[in-house]
Amino acid sequence: MIIEKNRCKDQKPLISIVIPTYNEAEVISETLRRVKDSLKDLDRCFEIIVVDDDSPDGTWRIASEVFDKEDINGKIIVRENVRGLGTAIIDGIRSSEGEYVCVIDADLQHPPEEILRMLKKALEEDYDLVIASRYVKGGDVEGWRLHRRIISKTAVFIARLLIPHIRGIKDPMSGYFLFRKDRVRIDRLKGDGMKILLEIIVTGDIKKIYEHPYIFHRRVRGKSKLGVKEIIDFIKQILRLSDYKIVKFGLVGLSGIGVNWGILIPLRDIIGLPLPISYLISLEISTISNFIFNDLWTFSKNRCEKSWLRRLIEYHSTLFVGLAINYVATNLLAFTTYYLIASLIGILLGFIANYIISSEFVWGLRSSRKSY
Ligand code: GDD
Ligand code: MN
Repeated sequence: MIIEKNRCKDQKPLISIVIPTYNEAEVISETLRRVKDSLKDLDRCFEIIVVDDDSPDGTWRIASEVFDKEDINGKIIVRENVRGLGTAIIDGIRSSEGEYVCVIDADLQHPPEEILRMLKKALEEDYDLVIASRYVKGGDVEGWRLHRRIISKTAVFIARLLIPHIRGIKDPMSGYFLFRKDRVRIDRLKGDGMKILLEIIVTGDIKKIYEHPYIFHRRVRGKSKLGVKEIIDFIKQILRLSDYKIVKFGLVGLSGIGVNWGILIPLRDIIGLPLPISYLISLEISTISNFIFNDLWTFSKNRCEKSWLRRLIEYHSTLFVGLAINYVATNLLAFTTYYLIASLIGILLGFIANYIISSEFVWGLRSSRKSY
């Protein structure tokens, strides 16, 4: 059901503010009022789109009353029998009419007063996307305990590790952002996780990104919907967005062990070559086979203009970096923990280093990094 509140006459809105809501009855009136106030100096028409999943607490009814009382232009989308923040935001974007869209939470953890500044930045300096960022200078999080900060930073670290596109962005998981609508491919968005911004960046045609600092406020009323299901969805979402590259890279690495042993054993035990020589030959062949699989499979879409020989040579050198990191980490950690555990951590760190260098330098995913 869509409740239209058409008050812009024939003008097309410059910006659409999309506000997803689920059980925000306690706060929605204040949010709508503050969003409206924050845009009072804008000399163009704007619209507010509330997307509510038929909240049991009747959020949408209250929103509808406030739209009338405050003379707000826009619409209220009430989705029956569906739930999900990602798809709610997509439905909001889809029905938006503005040239720009801003997505903001309803619970006032995202201060609406930043919207106009973000819009000005986008208009004046021609940014495709402005992210309200907790993690650039001047931004912060209010009242988070240490463990919550660690969870958030870990999520950012994992996302940046897996999705090379976003490695330059400090707060790629922000739920508060503003973009030029013609730069986003709405048809490619699925909205299966909470982090719709990641999808927008990966699938869209976004070149210039700016991170605008803001303070993520404490939630005063209502409660957060972030739970275990959301965390699992998040992992699935970033794996899909990264095209499962790290998984493929890991499987190729495992296949390399098979190739290595498959050559080492006959060379040493059947032909009788000395270990140092048979080891070198098998290591070399497994490195080349790893390269071929990664080139044809893991990074098949990223074979840039470099020649394959150059990629092979570069990939080859990542091996030494990974080995060196593995060696140093294992030896250092062995002082404090059981040596096999130290060795496992060493392997993991070496693997991560290899993956980062391979994706960024060998297969050039770094060059597709966005400019700011
Ligand atoms: N329509 C709809 N359907 N809205 C939802 C749903 C849903 O299933 N789940 C949550 N919302 C709305 C909430 O009402 C709120 O306005 C907003 O989405 C964010 O939900 P919260 O539950 O407050 O999320 P959070 O505070 O834990 O996390 C938020 O902030 C993070 C940091 O900026 C989200 O915006 C995250 O995406 C963001 O990373
Ligand atoms: Mn919140």
